Amino acid sequence: MRVIASTDEARRFSDEARRAGKIVGFVPTMGFLHEGHLSLVRASRRECGTTIVSIFVNPAQFAPDEDFDDYPRNFERDAKLLEAEGVDAIFAPKREEFYAEGFQTYVTVEDITRPLEGASRPTHFRGVTTVVAMLFNATRPDRAYFGGKDAQQAATISRMAADLKTGVDIVVMPIVRESDGLAMSSRNTYLSPEERNDALAISRALREAKAEIEAGERDAGNILARMRETIERSERANVDYVAAVERETFESVDTFRAGGRYYLLVACRVGKTRLIDNEPISIPG
Ligand code: PAJ
Repeated sequence: MRVIASTDEARRFSDEARRAGKIVGFVPTMGFLHEGHLSLVRASRRECGTTIVSIFVNPAQFAPDEDFDDYPRNFERDAKLLEAEGVDAIFAPKREEFYAEGFQTYVTVEDITRPLEGASRPTHFRGVTTVVAMLFNATRPDRAYFGGKDAQQAATISRMAADLKTGVDIVVMPIVRESDGLAMSSRNTYLSPEERNDALAISRALREAKAEIEAGERDAGNILARMRETIERSERANVDYVAAVERETFESVDTFRAGGRYYLLVACRVGKTRLIDNEPISIPG
């Protein structure tokens, strides 16, 4: 497994793989890897001849009051995990090289990024789309793998990849959960045992909502009110938003319609930790 720090070298590595007839798969991450990340790596390994994983805690997607400095990092451990998965290269650019002096170019996706995460974290998606565009330029993948855990991010990147004619196929994989339902996240390490227990209300609310929709409930307002109630019964959990949106556009919906494809989404503060989760919903046609 190669460990690559320079953009030029990443590009050479990818170009050589493609010249050798390989499909280049790419998994962007901020490291501190867990099974959620590894599910993306495994999908790329199954479907592509070469897999590149990036590890870069991207300052541009953190607001000044967010957890950039505290964000968990452990490169040695990540590298061992990726080596064991059979990854071909890690791209871990240095901040000073990647955001060179004088940097002033940003990629923004308009409508999809306005609500929910975009409303709570106004500069977040601009940071994500910019760094992902830069990472695509460095690693020149044929396919790139993202987790459904960050559903709005995945929809935003799919839009960007299509709009900018990147030629990169975006693959979105299901959420990986702990056995008790908590969606895996590098930020779960911030939770105390009591907070972790309270955080389970998030996935429980989503599961119950899905069951209610499967039993015939079609009013999104009713569903969201019950989700909020379930979560706020936990002492340490404070809802930032609960929402029901159209799967591709992220426009909010009042009524679930036959044949419709939606997301139920939650963002929640548990103690000081902000967690997000969601459940895709498909109504039979
Ligand atoms: P990070 O939070 O490290 O996540 C990297 C990828 O892993 C994302 O596509 C995310 O959706 C996916 N992922 C995280 N938890 C998951 C889970 N429980 N199940 C399935 N997939 C999961 O997302 C980012 O980094 C950054 O914004 C990035 C795209 C790398 C740009 O900086």
